[in-house]
Amino acid sequence: MAAPGATGRRRATVLFERTMRVLGIETTCDETAAAVVRLRPDGAGEILADEVMSQIAAHSPYGGVVPEIAARAHVEIVDALVVRALRRADMRARDLDGVAAAAGPGLIGGVLVGLMTGKGIALAAGKPFLAVNHLEGHALAARLSGRLAFPYLLLLASGGHTQILAVKGVGDYDRLGTTMDDAIGEAFDKTAKMLGLAYPGGPALEAAARGGDPQRFALPRPMFGRPSADFSLSGLKTATRLAAQSIAPLTQRDVADLCASFQAAVVDVIEDRMRVGLKRFRQRVGAAQGVVVAGGVAANGAIREAMARFCAQAGLPFIAPPQALCTDNGAMIAWAGIERLRRGLVDDLAAPARPRWPLDPKVERSLNGKA
Ligand code: KG4
Ligand code: ZN
Repeated sequence: MAAPGATGRRRATVLFERTMRVLGIETTCDETAAAVVRLRPDGAGEILADEVMSQIAAHSPYGGVVPEIAARAHVEIVDALVVRALRRADMRARDLDGVAAAAGPGLIGGVLVGLMTGKGIALAAGKPFLAVNHLEGHALAARLSGRLAFPYLLLLASGGHTQILAVKGVGDYDRLGTTMDDAIGEAFDKTAKMLGLAYPGGPALEAAARGGDPQRFALPRPMFGRPSADFSLSGLKTATRLAAQSIAPLTQRDVADLCASFQAAVVDVIEDRMRVGLKRFRQRVGAAQGVVVAGGVAANGAIREAMARFCAQAGLPFIAPPQALCTDNGAMIAWAGIERLRRGLVDDLAAPARPRWPLDPKVERSLNGKA
């Protein structure tokens, strides 16, 4: 273990890269997940097992994630998921080359469950331990296919995070933009809830928008044209609520039109913010190898289409990992573990749980604490 007060991160010599197999554990929010990923000799990752247990049913009566319910649900299921993942990968803990667990950012109760489980397995099996930043898991998942080199521009959009990042290397990130209030997924979830749609709201809102008229309501495009690459979505959320209140009671058509108008505004904002993000990327980093969208919101078809359009205009490859790798999962944690382990970036068992943990250390003391 490191001396007290040390960061707990260190560099080890790694001699077994070609056969690397890592267990990944994810418990930072409302999905409990365990996966085993292998690094193939060609540099790509192969998912040997990928177990995810969603807690949607447990939280849906409350219309949002309840931290204590989440932590208890993680405790109840995480061991069984790890056993199932190892069995599916036809391995025992002693066959692993490393154990990775998401150490944050996220809900502290859940983070502790996965982190302690990972440390326990690493200690018992005598394997290197990797305390993975959940956001790094999302950021690197696009490299699992093996075809994406650094540096690239990333839109990370989930229920808890909205960031435009320059991904320059493993552990090397520049945050080019973030949200000043709601995350994009959070804005979808809250708007959907206000319109009486099912939890989680993102997919429900997208489905409702499908038959709607995106031009019926003239909703604002907050931050549009601003020189910083930041987002602000709470005004759009409020404008949608006011539009709904002005025509209540709502018919199904009204809800569809509100959803379509809201989604169209989000899409416009994302395209505009990405334009600024790419400009900043080019100024700070240089040429990008591609543009990646990650996080649960990346499942949204309209947002994917807008990103593909944006990339075509910019002349850059667009990479959207498969949906299962975009929403929270264990494979992205295992893969980030592999990316760290092959560079010798292992952690000791003193690695702390970090409910707030920005990828870019320069923004550690940022304004609103949104990691
Ligand atoms: O990455 P994720 O699984 O968990 C977090 O780390 O937050 O993302 C979940 C978020 C939720 O806010 C959910 O509503 C949103 O992603 N989401 C969507 C869609 N599918 C999931 N938002 C918009 N459209 C979707 N199709
Ligand atoms: Zn996430």
